This record gives sequence, structure tokens and C-alpha cells, in this order.
Amino acid sequence: MKKILIFGATGFIGKELTNHLQKSFDVNVISRNPDKAKKIFNDSINIVTWDFKSVKTLSKIFSTMDVIVNLAGENIASKFWTKSQKRKILNSRIDIGKLISEAIVISEKKPKLLIQASAVGYYGYNTIDKCNEDSPKGKGFLAYVTDKWERSTQDLETHEIKRIIIRTGVVLGTNGGIFPKLVKPVKLYLGSNFGKGNNWISWIHIKDEIRAIEFLINNKSSNGIYNLVTSQPVQSKHLNQIIGKSLKRPVWLKVPKIFLYQLFGKMAHELLLSNQKVHSIKLESEGFNFLFSRPEDAVNDLLKKQ
Ligand SMILES: NC(=O)c1ccc[n+]([C@@H]2O[C@H](COP(=O)([O-])OP(=O)(O)OC[C@H]3O[C@@H](n4cnc5c(N)ncnc54)[C@H](OP(=O)(O)O)[C@@H]3O)[C@@H](O)[C@H]2O)c1
Repeated sequence: MKKILIFGATGFIGKELTNHLQKSFDVNVISRNPDKAKKIFNDSINIVTWDFKSVKTLSKIFSTMDVIVNLAGENIASKFWTKSQKRKILNSRIDIGKLISEAIVISEKKPKLLIQASAVGYYGYNTIDKCNEDSPKGKGFLAYVTDKWERSTQDLETHEIKRIIIRTGVVLGTNGGIFPKLVKPVKLYLGSNFGKGNNWISWIHIKDEIRAIEFLINNKSSNGIYNLVTSQPVQSKHLNQIIGKSLKRPVWLKVPKIFLYQLFGKMAHELLLSNQKVHSIKLESEGFNFLFSRPEDAVNDLLKKQ
């Protein structure tokens, strides 16, 4: 059975990934807070302890693993983007990336694959011209962060260790991310669009995110950069309408853009109002099938549990 070690397993994507992969892999988790990890996962998951400093110790741990998945990093939407928070968002990612990369390089028996998280923010916050895996880096803080984040493990390529970068879009799921934050006000008859709601969201259902990562681990020929988004980006007002329709609630309020800019500054631009039409070319061409391509199907699936 392949041994996998996951960084950031206690987060929104990591929890679902860990629980799913344990059906077919020997899954190990590394966390800054092992007690938190123990509470989240059942006894079948091995919680690996590491001081988050020693490259040598990490290299010994890696010598026993086949695949490393790195999802770790300060949450980008949980706090205002002050200077120190932006530094945390950046450094938390590049520090772990560099440690992982250095440890793999010096490990006696090297893992065969690193799956490195990134985001479609790489293409910039206003990318209405279709972009795909070959498109250049765009503008903005998130483009800067994701670029540095991806580069933090780039050294592996010179050592011929397989590295797959997953540039993920907005993940729709009920246990984290943006979706519960959109659903809550709609349930309370307070559903509202940000500005005109014309901005495009490139998204993926949490089940497809997890399936895509599993596919990339198993598919021997997969390598390099993959956009994890469906082929149907959705305008934010349309997504709200779909949620409203599914919950039988109107979405009639509008939060003016100026208010969002005043309150959130640059964060409004890049998170709440970001406008991205990103396409995934490689994943489907290599044989992956999305369970949810239409936003209506994704929303109805997620809301049927509520
Ligand atoms: N959710 C999305 O829609 C989305 C979209 C695109 C890209 N991504 C990226 O994919 C990754 C996983 O997303 P997610 O939504 O699951 O994130 P999340 O819920 O915020 O979880 C991230 C994990 O990273 C670790 N972490 C948090 N703060 C950290 C810090 N300051 N330093 C080091 N580690 C820290 C935590 O694990 P421990 O406390 O156990 O160490 C946490 O469980 C993230 O890096 C995110 O940027 C997410």
C-alpha cells in the first residue's frame, strides 16, 4: 500500500482528502498541532510529529513515504490583509515549501511525488480572457504569493523528482471555504450580490477536488501544472441565484462595491470581486471526468445535505 504524508490535512480540503484517501492508501498526517489532528481523525490515521524546523528529521520521515501532499498555509480569507497578515500568508507557504523541498533532496530513499498546492489566483484577479495552464502569471498579491509558493519547491525538478502543482479554483463544499458563507445569508432572506455580481468565479466541487488529487497521484503520466476548475465558470450573481432557487429564497440585496473597498481594501478586489475565467485543459485530456461540471448540479448536491 502506498504511503502518503499530508501537510495541511486539518484544513477544509485536507480533512476531506485524508478521509477519502485512507480507503486505498496508508495515510499519514503532519500538523503543527498534533493534538488537534488526533481529535479530527480516527485511529487509522498516523499523526507524524515534527518540530517544523529540522530538515534532517523531516528527510528521515520522507524516506518512509511514497507521496507527499502539501496543502499547508495561513488561510487567505480569515483575517484582514494587514501588512503582517500578508507576510504570514506568504511566509507560511514558502517556509514549509522550502523545508519540504530540501528534505526530499537529502532523503536517503526519496518519495516519488510531491503534490504542491497553489491557486488560480496565479493568473491574476481579473482574467476574463480564457486562461489555461500555459497562461502567464497575472497581477496582484495572490498572483505574487502563488508564484513564490510554487517556486519554493521548484528545486525538486532539477533533482528529477516528480512535482505536480494543483492550481485550484474556488472550492465549493459545506465544511469550509466560501460556500457556507454564501448560503447562510440566503437562508436568512439576506442573500445579496457584491456589486452587480457580474464577476466570474472559476470553481470546483470539493468531491471533484479530492478525486482530481487522487487521480493525479495514481496516473503515472501526470506531471507539472494542473488547473483544478470545472469547464463552466459561473458569474457570482448566477451562483447566488442558484443557491436562492435551491433554498426557495429570494436574492435581492446588493452590497455596493464602494462599501466593500472601504471595508476590505485590496482584499475586496482579489477575493470578493475577483473576476476569473480559468480553464482546465490537462486534467480532462488525461482522462479525468468531473462529477459536477454545471454549477446547478454542484449547488443542489451540496444543499441536499443541509
Ligand atoms: N479552499 C479553497 O477554495 C482553496 C482554493 C485554492 C487554493 N487553496 C489552497 O489550498 C490549501 C488548502 O486549502 P484549505 O481551504 O483546506 O485551507 P485551510 O482550511 O486554511 O487549511 C490549511 C492548513 O494549513 C495549515 N496552516 C494554517 N495556517 C498555517 C500557518 N500559518 N503556517 C503553516 N501552516 C498553516 C493548517 O494545518 P495544521 O494546523 O494542521 O498545521 C491548516 O489546516 C491552502 O493552502 C489554500 O491556499 C484553497
